[in-house]
Amino acid sequence: MNENTIHGGVKWQSPSNIALVKYWGKSPAGVQIPQNPSISLTLSNCRTETSVFYEESDRFGLRFRFDGKENPEFQTKIAEFLKSQMSRFPFLNKMDLHIDSRNTFPHSSGIASSASSMSALVLCLLDIERMVNNNPDINLKEASRIARLASGSACRSVFPKAALWGATEAFAGSSDEYAISLEDEIHSVFKNYHDSILIVSDAKKSVSSRTGHALMDTNPYAEVRYTTAKNNIVDLLTALKTGDLESFMKITESEAMQLHALMMCSNPSVMLLKPNTLRIINTLYEFRRETDIPVCFTLDAGPNVHLLYPDQHAEMVERFIMDELEPYCHEGQWIADRVGEGPSRI
Ligand code: PMV
Repeated sequence: MNENTIHGGVKWQSPSNIALVKYWGKSPAGVQIPQNPSISLTLSNCRTETSVFYEESDRFGLRFRFDGKENPEFQTKIAEFLKSQMSRFPFLNKMDLHIDSRNTFPHSSGIASSASSMSALVLCLLDIERMVNNNPDINLKEASRIARLASGSACRSVFPKAALWGATEAFAGSSDEYAISLEDEIHSVFKNYHDSILIVSDAKKSVSSRTGHALMDTNPYAEVRYTTAKNNIVDLLTALKTGDLESFMKITESEAMQLHALMMCSNPSVMLLKPNTLRIINTLYEFRRETDIPVCFTLDAGPNVHLLYPDQHAEMVERFIMDELEPYCHEGQWIADRVGEGPSRI
């Protein structure tokens, strides 16, 4: 390497997010365009940390490590994405990249890491671009747009607190191409909301989200779903703004149930819930009836249960989890997470 060779290193952390109104179904209108808008809370403890060392070369080269080890599956996925972004980042054509990535949550927790890992990677790319071209600081809207191309839900991880992805008349500036921040649009109660993630199974997802989205193309309830989701967006935006926990809980739980109901009635049918998922939900209903504590659940495309609740009830809910729900968790595992500040350079 001579002294004029462009080289350096960047490092970013980016969090996972949990959708309240779910993105489930891709529109044929373009690459990774959603059929309906979605809203998520940005998490804090479930994060990916990615560092990229770059060095000018005569061609593109990639060495990817996950948790300090070579990972051919991830390497192929990342290489494919980077090659698709060569025209956006022309410097990649002549760059050797060494990427090291790790998740702060257990790899075997069944938690999808594409949102956190892909948003962290895209922020690194934009940071390299900033250094190579002497650009001003990173534009988060652009980060969100590019992250969307890698993994739809990744576009929502770029912003603190909460994000909206998808065009809706209910929110000026919303777009199908990138997410926007809802940080200033949510009531203070949500700004430090808790998300306790109960690990029912640590197995890898049996259906990839790509396959799951594709099943919506032939789902007989698809049109009703998209209309319902669009209406839920309008109602959830109001609930988030006003701090209306009753509506928040009703919409959030209904969205989780719909996601899984849609999977069950697709062809072929997909069942991702486990007996312990249902036990947890029923035990939660009972706890809520008895205590009136506003704690609700949501589900991702898997059997794990996310319990969402205000900070002021954290002690009671955490005791409830330890006393009554831990036995339903795989090896008693659960992750205490909460709404967070979004990505940062580290
Ligand atoms: O971003 P993808 O393609 O992995 O899809 C995400 C799908 C859900 O997690 C089920 C819902 C969502 O909006 O995050």
